[in-house]
Amino acid sequence: MSLKKININDLKNIYNRENDYIIDGIKNSKNPYHFFTLATLSNITPQSRTIVLRDYDVNSKTISFNADYRSPKIKQLLKNKGCTALFYDNSRKIQIRFDCLATIFYNDIKSKKAWDKTQLQSRKCYMGVYNPSIVLDEYNPNIPIKYLKRDPDENDSHAGYKNFAFVKLQIQSSDILELHHDGHIRFKVDSNSKFSFIAI
Ligand SMILES: Cc1cc2nc3c(=O)[nH]c(=O)nc-3n(C[C@H](O)[C@H](O)[C@H](O)COP(=O)(O)O)c2cc1C
Repeated sequence: MSLKKININDLKNIYNRENDYIIDGIKNSKNPYHFFTLATLSNITPQSRTIVLRDYDVNSKTISFNADYRSPKIKQLLKNKGCTALFYDNSRKIQIRFDCLATIFYNDIKSKKAWDKTQLQSRKCYMGVYNPSIVLDEYNPNIPIKYLKRDPDENDSHAGYKNFAFVKLQIQSSDILELHHDGHIRFKVDSNSKFSFIAI
């Protein structure tokens, strides 16, 4: 049986196609790429969590998301900016892993611009009195009780800004894996946009 022929141009086509899917994932919550798994380092222990994709820029090779400035993930990224962003589309059996370096924007022009784009319902997540991920003595949803079942008033919502951070991940390299019954395809794209096959 002969091997299917895959060349660098095919890899470029896959890469461009996946970039389009990721861009669609910014706004389209039905697209699996609307969410990704962010892994950071907590001292020597990796920690991963689900994140909503807020922006993806193919030219500057950046991924953006929002987070609470008080959260462990932000502390970890401030200490060690190396991280990975993992995307998986189960229907098409494609996994993309981006190795990245993070920059945190807090209380500055970029974070303000991102804050202005957030919806009122998202802003209440930044209005909690407790630092995210701390241990509580009893159940507390960590949002103002009066906004449990409704969006915060516009004026009130700005109280959340003091806890809001906007994060940009600069992609260093990409690892793309496409599963096929007749032979998986895996390749990487390095920081100089060089495409190379990699072993499965
Ligand atoms: C579907 C989904 C989307 C999420 N999106 C975000 C997000 O965009 N930003 C964020 O900081 N946390 C998000 N979270 C919460 C994180 O996964 C995590 O539980 C929380 O932020 C605490 O993370 P940390 O303790 O590692 O900082 C999301 C969780 C789920 C389940």
